[in-house]
Amino acid sequence: MTDPTTPAPAGGPPTDTSSGTASKGATGEVLLRASHLVAGYIPGVNILDDCSIEVGRGELVGIIGPNGAGKSTLLKALFGQVEIRSGSVELDGEEITGMRANRLVAQGVGFVPQSNNVFPSLTIEENLKMGVYLKPAMFRDRFSFIADLFPTLGDRRAQRAGSLSGGERQMVAMARALMMNPSVLLLDEPSAGLSPVRQDETFLRTRMINKAGVSIVMVEQNARRCLQICDRGYVLDQGRDAHTGTGRELQADPKVIALYLGTLAEDVEESAAAHTG
Ligand SMILES: Nc1ncnc2c1ncn2[C@@H]1O[C@H](COP(=O)(O)OP(=O)(O)O)[C@@H](O)[C@H]1O
Ligand SMILES: [Mg+2]
Repeated sequence: MTDPTTPAPAGGPPTDTSSGTASKGATGEVLLRASHLVAGYIPGVNILDDCSIEVGRGELVGIIGPNGAGKSTLLKALFGQVEIRSGSVELDGEEITGMRANRLVAQGVGFVPQSNNVFPSLTIEENLKMGVYLKPAMFRDRFSFIADLFPTLGDRRAQRAGSLSGGERQMVAMARALMMNPSVLLLDEPSAGLSPVRQDETFLRTRMINKAGVSIVMVEQNARRCLQICDRGYVLDQGRDAHTGTGRELQADPKVIALYLGTLAEDVEESAAAHTG
């Protein structure tokens, strides 16, 4: 067993982390499958419109796409927070379409929403206890796993979450979702609003969580970084999965860059310029 606090294996050279093929994870086995989802908030308005994704066991899947494409709505639909009008969601071969959040958590789905994802007046430890309210007996074991993964959280367990920085809060939110030992973790823009250093840390942690055996669906506005660390990605556009491929394939796809990742080309140029200049 490798030490989960050692960042090196999970960090690695970012370009080497995406697999070379579009297979579904190491085993080729599909863990989570959303098929032809149609979902929305207001009657008659479909935000997701025939959206399908697959997540292999052990896979880190990135979801990118323009603002308003429906990325958050997709995660909320997977987590039973938006009405699914047609289509289906399967976890490990079992249908979980429209199941409520507490049942999904018990089934092994963890969700970290984009904002308001910690209880600011509670301590770190109390926040993590909320993560296992369904099974309080799990706290001890899971807390030691979390403290290995996020040593700062273990050290500062008595500190109120409201006094933490944005990056630390994001760690608490991820840790809380990991308390129930999920098989798949849904992350909505974990790097949003963080400084570049904290963003790097968040991507590193995400990769480490994935290496520890948790399949991940990560929605990201930082498309370049997302595609660098994910095994496979999906580009969402107007509520539909418009493109898929390995992280590397999508990064190199001129159509994807031109149509959906206008800022990607700039990001790449910027980072190239930063390296040479
Ligand atoms: N609670 C809501 N009620 C009604 N419409 C919503 C709600 N949340 C999001 N939407 C609409 O759904 C569309 C997709 O939003 P969202 O899934 O948040 O996109 P993304 O995360 O890709 O930026 C947007 O047009 C947005 O206005
Ligand atoms: Mg969003």
